[in-house]
Amino acid sequence: METVVSGIRSTGNLHLGNYFGAMKNFLRMQEENQCYFFIADYHSLTTHPKPQDLRQNVRQVLAEYLACGLDPEKCTLYVQSDVPEVAELYLLLNMHAYKGELERATTFKEKARKQPDNINAGLLTYPVLMAADILLHRASKVPVGKDQEQHLEMTRQFGNRFNRMYEVDYFPEPQAFNFGVQLVKVPGLDGSGKMGKSEGEGNAVFLFDTDEALKKKVMRAVSDAGPSEPNSQKPEAIQNLFTLMDLVSTKETLQFFDDAFNNCTIRYGDMKKQLAEDMIVFVSPIRSRITEILKDESLLTDVMKRGKEKAQASARKTVSEVREIMGIRY
Ligand code: TYM
Repeated sequence: METVVSGIRSTGNLHLGNYFGAMKNFLRMQEENQCYFFIADYHSLTTHPKPQDLRQNVRQVLAEYLACGLDPEKCTLYVQSDVPEVAELYLLLNMHAYKGELERATTFKEKARKQPDNINAGLLTYPVLMAADILLHRASKVPVGKDQEQHLEMTRQFGNRFNRMYEVDYFPEPQAFNFGVQLVKVPGLDGSGKMGKSEGEGNAVFLFDTDEALKKKVMRAVSDAGPSEPNSQKPEAIQNLFTLMDLVSTKETLQFFDDAFNNCTIRYGDMKKQLAEDMIVFVSPIRSRITEILKDESLLTDVMKRGKEKAQASARKTVSEVREIMGIRY
């Protein structure tokens, strides 16, 4: 049995990228591992959300976790800030994290470009907090999408550095994990590389989208006039549609449109219509469950309370051992 940790930021509703990049693996992993899944609310503070929005977002993401099938009987489900021990570990790890390596992180460079007026210290040390989340439970596996690969590399670096510095074999080396062969990158609908909540309107399909909103977005997805040569290479935006279809549609449907592409008879309007229908079949039962769960305030509160207790037991143990190793015992 392995120890597994992963989290999703509470910056908005979950989208299909979160589902197929991370959640799908959470669901399988909870069956046979010691799993800690949390809502990364501290991480979401880098963009200064309004206090009332923060509460709403955390509850929404928790309801979405449950609606997808995470089971508090099988895994520990908690809110990051409910376990403030992580903040102490973050502080301690920060002493061994260097400005140069933090500035080189791709995610930092990207965020600094996108929000030049808010390049705060929390953003710079974001990977250290993420390492603290993982090392807090001494996890060995971390189910994440492809975009988090570098953060995992940094987590290993910080853990190994700690082990070397204090001549211990304390933190295991956590690996990014996916049940498939590779980490997943779910593309967006705007022809660009990645589905993401901050990538602009119309790029992401959310689990909480109404059927109409979903259909509208998919029908507006970027495509082109179609191939003029048989068996040609698919342009990026078109490949993205096929990648999305591969996630939600049957093999036969995918094959049908692939053949149509290859013999130049494809009509992207038809393909998008089919894609939207198949997404709706996938998303709408989840959306109904989210709506139901959100009505049950006491369920959400109970799940958070239980998760906090379980996560805190593991966190306290680690932090007290780390203090001991570092010589914080007077
Ligand atoms: P976040 O909130 O951006 O995304 C949550 C998870 O969803 C995955 N994901 C995707 N996977 C494939 N294709 C996409 N288009 C896509 N978009 C998002 C992400 O890879 C991630 O697994 N820093 C993390 C949250 C975090 C965390 C942690 C994760 C904080 N501490 C500790 C693991 C362990 C983040 O911002 O994810």
